[in-house]
Amino acid sequence: MNEAVLDSAIEYVTALFSGISDGHDAEHTLRVYRNAAAIAANYPDCDKTMICLAALLHDADDHKLFDTADNANARRFMESQSIDRETADRICGIINSVSFSRNKGSAPESPEGKIVQDADRLDAIGAVGIARAFAYGGKNGRTLESTVAHFHEKLLLLRDSMNTEEAKLIAKKRHEFMVRFLAELEDETTF
Ligand code: ADP
Ligand code: NI
Repeated sequence: MNEAVLDSAIEYVTALFSGISDGHDAEHTLRVYRNAAAIAANYPDCDKTMICLAALLHDADDHKLFDTADNANARRFMESQSIDRETADRICGIINSVSFSRNKGSAPESPEGKIVQDADRLDAIGAVGIARAFAYGGKNGRTLESTVAHFHEKLLLLRDSMNTEEAKLIAKKRHEFMVRFLAELEDETTF
């Protein structure tokens, strides 16, 4: 598999997510891809093209957005690139190990899965995580309080769920920013 596949994957997911403007849009996927590539750069033994492709396709069959079975959207792209069945199965294995709902919250076993999971979780915290949470809250008619509750139920727990040292470091900074944001928000909204 060569790196030109990644350019085609960027085009594919950009088209796939066109018109979707919630927290799972094409920009989220591209950020997860960049996060994953940055973390993977520290692991000479892992398969970077596999990691990048899995990151780019990680939400292509998210059940909240697409009514597909057996990673059909991801597989359709890989077939179009003549990626062999064994490699496609491995990519789908990585993607499915990352999803919280599919693996009931357990950490992926493969180093590739661990990296893509960290990359996905990093995008839910920090300034970008705050922006996504309020975008979601606004779209779903949630009050400020109910979106703040999501920070306590989920987003503030993500720092301690990172697999790799690199992600732990980035998560620490992003977590601290969220804590400062929440303190400031409380200060400004308490009378
Ligand atoms: P994932 O599929 O990656 O676990 P989700 O579908 O749970 O992500 O969420 C996508 C984005 O929407 C995330 O940034 C998340 O924080 C935000 N989000 C999900 N549920 C809520 C909620 N109840 N309130 C505010 N934001 C939410
Ligand atoms: Ni995601």
